[in-house]
Amino acid sequence: MKKIIVKSPANIAFIKYWGQRDSKLILPYNDSFSMNLSDCYTLVNLEIYENKNIKQLYIKDYQSENYKNSKDESLNKVLKFFQTTKKFLSKDEEFGFKIFSSNSFPKKAGIASSASFFSGLAMAFTRAFNKKISPKKLSILARLSGSGSACRSIPDGFCWWSKGTKSDDSFAFSLAPLSYWNLCDLVLILSTAEKKVSSSDGHQKAVTSSFFKYRLLELNKRLKEIKNAFLKKDFTKFGKLLEEDALSMHMTMMTQSPPLYYWSGKTIETIKKVINLRKSGLEVYFTIDAGENIHLICQENDKGKIYDYFIRQPEVIKIIKNKPADGTRIIQLIN
Ligand code: PMV
Repeated sequence: MKKIIVKSPANIAFIKYWGQRDSKLILPYNDSFSMNLSDCYTLVNLEIYENKNIKQLYIKDYQSENYKNSKDESLNKVLKFFQTTKKFLSKDEEFGFKIFSSNSFPKKAGIASSASFFSGLAMAFTRAFNKKISPKKLSILARLSGSGSACRSIPDGFCWWSKGTKSDDSFAFSLAPLSYWNLCDLVLILSTAEKKVSSSDGHQKAVTSSFFKYRLLELNKRLKEIKNAFLKKDFTKFGKLLEEDALSMHMTMMTQSPPLYYWSGKTIETIKKVINLRKSGLEVYFTIDAGENIHLICQENDKGKIYDYFIRQPEVIKIIKNKPADGTRIIQLIN
């Protein structure tokens, strides 16, 4: 039995990907920009068997002791991605597998668990087929998993997903290594409940929002500005832009049909606290993915004070401290 263990980070987008111009090829309407997270990651352990009838998925949830055999929609997505990978790598052969996946954070709660899982699986399957492909191709394959943002977990550090013109040129690359800027992402866990509507379903309805066309128009400018602010390490400008973009994505979500409200009352309470904290002189900005939990982006020097404030808030269950991180890596290979 051959075994491949891959570690892959979740990523937090400063400029979000929302809406797909091609839902089969998972092509986005806009470029997006993210940072890989040091302490929110998935370990994908792929065991390979000669018996091709073995196709199993086991998931160990956050803070749980045991793996559970998953026979639902998650397994179907994995089986579909296995076929996509075979086609992408032009491989005819088939093998059996058992996948053991464990997360360092709650899944389906707005912390990109599908991005870390599918980027990890893209690398593990590719290795299992004994194929060597470029980081660009691996990013394209991860995108084709269905979780488009998985393509941004493949390269290192700060990653830019270029929307491209077709499947072959829509991929993520590293804009800067993790050492470029010691930004922090404090993930405030307000709830570990799984969201009811997946982002895959949500993307399909983005075009029904009358706000969406304004989002796309303002994005051209915002993308240029955030790249500049990043290259100059202008945190004030950078923070303002990333917060604006999170709000613009959630405006789209809330105004699409049917509307998607990922926020809870606790999310709004926390947003207000972030704004007040900023008024008091601490520079911290928020961003939110498809879930009610909040990501606080700050600089290393302010991290301690921001952490101490939020850990005392009754709605905060836990805080995961993240630094920028490398992308997807094979960490163990047993032949
Ligand atoms: O990659 P998906 O299909 O899980 O979509 C994720 C989209 C957001 O997390 C909401 C935004 C982003 O760019 O990460």
